[in-house]
Amino acid sequence: MGWSFFASFFDRSKREEEYVLFNRDDHMRVAHTPAEIRRQLNTLRNHKTIAFVPTMGCLHKGHMSLIKEAKALADIVVVSIYVNPLQFGPSEDMEQYPRPFERDAQLCAEAGVDFLFHPTSLYPKSGPKITLKATGLSDCLCGADRPGHFDGVVTVVNILFNIVQPNFAVFGEKDWQQLAIIRRMVSDQYLPIEIIGAEIIRETGGLAMSSRNRYLNERDRQQALSLSRALIAMQELASTGEKDIERLKIRAFEILDIADITPQYLDIRHATSLKRTRKLTAHNNRVFIAAQVGSARLIDNMPLTIPLLETTP
Ligand code: PAJ
Repeated sequence: MGWSFFASFFDRSKREEEYVLFNRDDHMRVAHTPAEIRRQLNTLRNHKTIAFVPTMGCLHKGHMSLIKEAKALADIVVVSIYVNPLQFGPSEDMEQYPRPFERDAQLCAEAGVDFLFHPTSLYPKSGPKITLKATGLSDCLCGADRPGHFDGVVTVVNILFNIVQPNFAVFGEKDWQQLAIIRRMVSDQYLPIEIIGAEIIRETGGLAMSSRNRYLNERDRQQALSLSRALIAMQELASTGEKDIERLKIRAFEILDIADITPQYLDIRHATSLKRTRKLTAHNNRVFIAAQVGSARLIDNMPLTIPLLETTP
């Protein structure tokens, strides 16, 4: 029996009720309010471990890989879908952000998600009066281009953590800075949650999967390929022993220029402190890029490793 048959039973006016979505032998429960998901999880949490995957929906293979990781980690997997207004700037794509909920719910059910949390809103109508502020790690890279973005992210992730109270939470390395900031939030706030980073899933051709890739037309897509190509070219140059940051960046710019891409940033930084590096060190170098391609703002990052011989004095 197809999804649309069950979807027809959805009655948005009954949001407070619990729904059971059947998919073959599995079942997934959908909650629309914090009280509902709490009630559903509270009886389970004494004897089951919970892994949590927060998302904004419009799920793709990148999200699905986090769900797979979560399933391997814990007894119960909870996914949230919430387009968080606090993390969008006034000129950003909050309104247009795609919200294909029924398709997302089907993907989650098929992937064996146990609970899908899809709140209508997480904030009071007048907006939240108490929020979290991310400092330090959030000042550079995307934080410099998107003021307040990471404050919105840490505020909503903290709220979601308070509601779900998971043992594990899985985030993608695609948003490396976000992952670093959330790790820091968990440590600064003494949250009893283990944060797991999951590797970047890419399309054939190397473009990092993103909900925003759907904004790209054919020409944009060709241009967008230059982002990962530029980073791979830097990796290749680093693997020959090149440690000079400027020479590495020149290599990337050669590729970006051909594609007519001017990045918002192209930076080599320490992977955890996110501090700028002057010269590649033995470990923990990471290159970060952001660029506007057509109407999509795309980001990517990769590790840069120099050959072991080069690191010995
Ligand atoms: P969203 O962009 O939906 O991403 C949800 C999670 O999927 C994030 O942890 C992100 O890093 C991961 N992800 C996205 N594309 C990926 C890819 N190609 N490979 C691997 N992982 C990928 O990030 C957010 O939502 C929000 O900021 C959120 C944390 C939910 C707070 O609102």
